[in-house]
Amino acid sequence: MQLPLILERSSNDPLQAQIYEQCRRAILAGVLAGGQRLPSTRDLSRSLGVSRATVALAYERLLAEGYLEARHGSGTFVSRVAPDTQIPEARRSRSAARRINQTNAAGQIGLSRWGAAAALAERVVSDATPGMIHLSRWRPDLTYFPNRDWGRLLARAAAAGAPELFDYAGESFGYAPLRAALARYLGAARAVHCSPEQIVIVGGSQQALDLCARVLLNAGESVALENPCYQGARQAFETLGAHIVPLPVDDHGATFQNLESLSVRAAYLTPSHQFPTGVSLSLPRRLELIELARRKGFVIIEDDYDSEYRYEGRPLPSLQGLSDGAQVVYVGTFSKVLFPSLRLGYMVVPPPLVHAFSKAKWIIDRQCAYLEQHALAGFIESGGLARHIRRMRKIYGQRRAALVESLDQHFGARVKRTREASGMHVLARFDTGLSTTEIIRRAQAQGVTLAGSQPYYLQDAPNAEFVLGFAAVPEKALREAIRRLAAVVC
Ligand SMILES: Cc1ncc(COP(=O)(O)O)c(C=O)c1O
Repeated sequence: MQLPLILERSSNDPLQAQIYEQCRRAILAGVLAGGQRLPSTRDLSRSLGVSRATVALAYERLLAEGYLEARHGSGTFVSRVAPDTQIPEARRSRSAARRINQTNAAGQIGLSRWGAAAALAERVVSDATPGMIHLSRWRPDLTYFPNRDWGRLLARAAAAGAPELFDYAGESFGYAPLRAALARYLGAARAVHCSPEQIVIVGGSQQALDLCARVLLNAGESVALENPCYQGARQAFETLGAHIVPLPVDDHGATFQNLESLSVRAAYLTPSHQFPTGVSLSLPRRLELIELARRKGFVIIEDDYDSEYRYEGRPLPSLQGLSDGAQVVYVGTFSKVLFPSLRLGYMVVPPPLVHAFSKAKWIIDRQCAYLEQHALAGFIESGGLARHIRRMRKIYGQRRAALVESLDQHFGARVKRTREASGMHVLARFDTGLSTTEIIRRAQAQGVTLAGSQPYYLQDAPNAEFVLGFAAVPEKALREAIRRLAAVVC
């Protein structure tokens, strides 16, 4: 399992004290439950990028104070009877567990269980220092965004002055012409079968995942996640208090043995381009999953976050389109094809769930901004979106080719990398005696930023594995970055 710890390297508190304190708080808040197994000192030290001795010191203190217990040969576990008086109180009732008084610098502030879990969740941030080559970011290249066209569409929407664009909408499904344009676009581009009435416009995929967690699960119920998995999805379910059932990923995508024996309410997947491995879910596995969902009665949450970027071959149709859609919530975003700060995404929801999802959206934030939705509908209908995607697909395809060519040229058999030509990143694992942290440090010194894959593993992250973003880096800089990386790794 992954511990949600955030270490402040610039803090005066030693790292071991930060690990100790955050674990203690997580135990008190019930985020780490009694009996739960903790990662080994080796795994945690790797995932945090600190020495094993640092983690061992924090664990020793938690053991000595009775928060943890060691079981010979099987690992370290959260004590079932914890030393703190708040624990029995917290466990007495569910409502008490939701309101655990946690002490922080400001004094006694009550945090809900969700608040405590959110406060402990790690934020995976990527470096944006100017002058560096950023392989640590898998964002669109915003210098190509047609901002003049976009500006005109926005200005036109504002100037028209239609009151319905400025007022509260009567309902929270989203701007009707955008939902109609999207239904047509998704049918043609992703073989998604839906009517505009099944579409709910949301604040990016992250809001869709949060809504899925709230609408489909109760705390203590189970959700299946790919391992490794997109951390945004894991956090949405973890903060809610869901149990995570891992679905190991191989070269054909996620595997489903665990779903045969365990019961889950939902399974979250990235079938078109598994995040972060980059493999796509094979057709037999897609059919197996659809059959399992039908037989066992769980919902598939299909995150199709960057499927527009496929550089070779034809994409497999969406799970939503491959099935009758009755068991699938399909999620998409404009963060990758347009720009992330737009905060617009969409869900295609089975008809019986539309009412619950739109009411949940209403409770959370009423609606997404209508001017942007109006501009976006115009952009799709005018062919602007399809044109922009075609253009960027060509550029990103060339960048990906430059990246993998350089990787193969400089590392040869010493790199294991994503083979499929799609998306905005490549997962690469180097065969080296150096640790992930040491490679990041050495690359940084050479002007290259890297992101390790550890935050995405539910357990046992491999060493020296990186998510290499190529979309926003020109070809020449990509080749130069890999040359520099080879010089410090080989
Ligand atoms: C798997 C996955 N889903 C969705 C997103 C996009 O999230 P959002 O639409 O909230 O910006 C990302 C962004 O990196 C992602 O990696």
